[in-house]
Amino acid sequence: MITELPLQNLPNANQGLEAVFQAYGDFMFVVDEEGTILEQKSGDVLQLNISAQKNIHRKIQDLLPFEAGRQIVDGLSDLRAKKIAAQVEFSVSNISGKSWYESRLIPSVNRQVIVFIRDITKYKQSEEKIKIQLDQMAALRSIDLAITSGIDLTQTLSMILDYTRNHLAVDAASVLLLNLQNQRLEFAAGAGFWTAALQHTQLQIGEGLAGQAVQKRRVVHVPNLKTRKTDLLRSPFFGRENFMEYYAIPLIAKGEVLGVLEIFHRSTLSADQHWTNFLHTLAGQAAIAIDSAMMFKNLQYTNDELTLAYDKTIEGWSRALDLRDKETEHHTRRVTDLTLRLAQRMNIPDSELTHIRRGAILHDIGKVAMPDGILFKPGPLTDEEWVIMRRHPLIAVEILKPISYLIPALPIPRSHHEKWDGSGYPNGLAGEDIPLAARLFAFADVYDALTSDRPYRRAWSQAAALEYIRENSGTHLDPNIVSLFIRMMTE
Ligand code: C2E
Ligand code: SIN
Ligand code: SIN
Ligand code: FE
Ligand code: FE
Repeated sequence: MITELPLQNLPNANQGLEAVFQAYGDFMFVVDEEGTILEQKSGDVLQLNISAQKNIHRKIQDLLPFEAGRQIVDGLSDLRAKKIAAQVEFSVSNISGKSWYESRLIPSVNRQVIVFIRDITKYKQSEEKIKIQLDQMAALRSIDLAITSGIDLTQTLSMILDYTRNHLAVDAASVLLLNLQNQRLEFAAGAGFWTAALQHTQLQIGEGLAGQAVQKRRVVHVPNLKTRKTDLLRSPFFGRENFMEYYAIPLIAKGEVLGVLEIFHRSTLSADQHWTNFLHTLAGQAAIAIDSAMMFKNLQYTNDELTLAYDKTIEGWSRALDLRDKETEHHTRRVTDLTLRLAQRMNIPDSELTHIRRGAILHDIGKVAMPDGILFKPGPLTDEEWVIMRRHPLIAVEILKPISYLIPALPIPRSHHEKWDGSGYPNGLAGEDIPLAARLFAFADVYDALTSDRPYRRAWSQAAALEYIRENSGTHLDPNIVSLFIRMMTE
């Protein structure tokens, strides 16, 4: 059985609508094609300064702020042309800020139009907030990338300062780094300054506002620099900057203070929770950038030290070899210099030259395994002695192979006795199968051996040595390099 409700207990349609407008603060107008108001329902009448009732027969565009009225008129003409609902958006500024409205124009009977106006300020504000947050996240991501890609510190800091200025809307910002040697805070990067006032900043810990932030490991905030006597004023141009509000944020990574981020604004900043959070995030990023740059620098330094130590070691080995074989003393240094000069003329890149230098220094290290009776024999070697002597390149490889940083230097020790026509040792390589470094080195080695005294013969003249090299072009030596070498030796 259906219960029949008494009719008067049902809200009529009109009352229901009224309730909706009261609840949501929307406006509704029924207008004719020209915007003349025929009917009006208003929620929060204060919002747009529209009075609740007395607007019948007035034009809707006259009730609204000028720009909003213009939009509505455009909407009405759109509607006349296309007969479909139109939508416009407008904002109104007043003392309490900016409000946003959305208006929908819906065609009704008898060429009438229903105009709804709704306050969408809250929606617009959160949209704006989300956009800002997305921008900030993108900024942080870019900073992360800069840090991990190892871009140099000054560049990374400049980038962080640009983001600080743009996203926190501050006039100027700078970073001072703590110099561990003299324990002073020194200017490292700045953005937004009119003068060079702060570029020579050098503060002791505890000195000045920045020094205090570092000493106390706390943010120092000065709402108005102009009413406060600070050390900043000692800088001759600082007054011209006309700064008002100031923050100093200590930059701390892994518990160590690495520097300080300073924020300067020429008027009052409106810092809310979100602003402060982002400031601290940026300061954290700056600290990480500084820390990782310092770690990289230390690593580089350690690496340089290690390389230097290794190079000293291999020079030591080669000197030990020279000491044993007095007659070839300085041979190593001379062939190394000659090989590098030749390589430079061939425009071989510097990174390669390092390996060529090491390879040349170590080329005959395998001779440590040659018995004195063979190495110092005053006459020609027998076949058996040659078998042993020809092992010196592979002995060098065995000695050097376990040292990973010498692997790129191995072509010269391994292949310096290969010949262009394939008749050399230890592998009988021919032509360009012989590594270029070894082909270059062979010129220097043969030239210097021939022009030096050996236990088995006296030194040749330079002319005789060059003649030998010319004659052996294409058999022993790379024919494409011969003329370059001879030109280099006769210049
Ligand atoms: P090394 O004395 O430093 O000679 C290096 C290379 O220069 C030699 O490689 C060879 O290509 C060239 N060279 C040096 N001296 C002469 C020479 O008098 N005539 C000619 N045509 N080329 C010369 P190679 O031949 O593979 O020799 C490698 C190493 O074997 C030499 O280094 C040296 O320590 C030793 N050796 C070579 N020949 C003799 C020799 O007749 N008696 C002795 N005791 N040792 C020799
Ligand atoms: C050494 O100095 O003993 C090696 C140089 C050479 O004979 O090639
Ligand atoms: C090369 O051979 O690879 C360049 C120099 C030369 O022609 O030998
Ligand atoms: Fe050799
Ligand atoms: Fe040699």
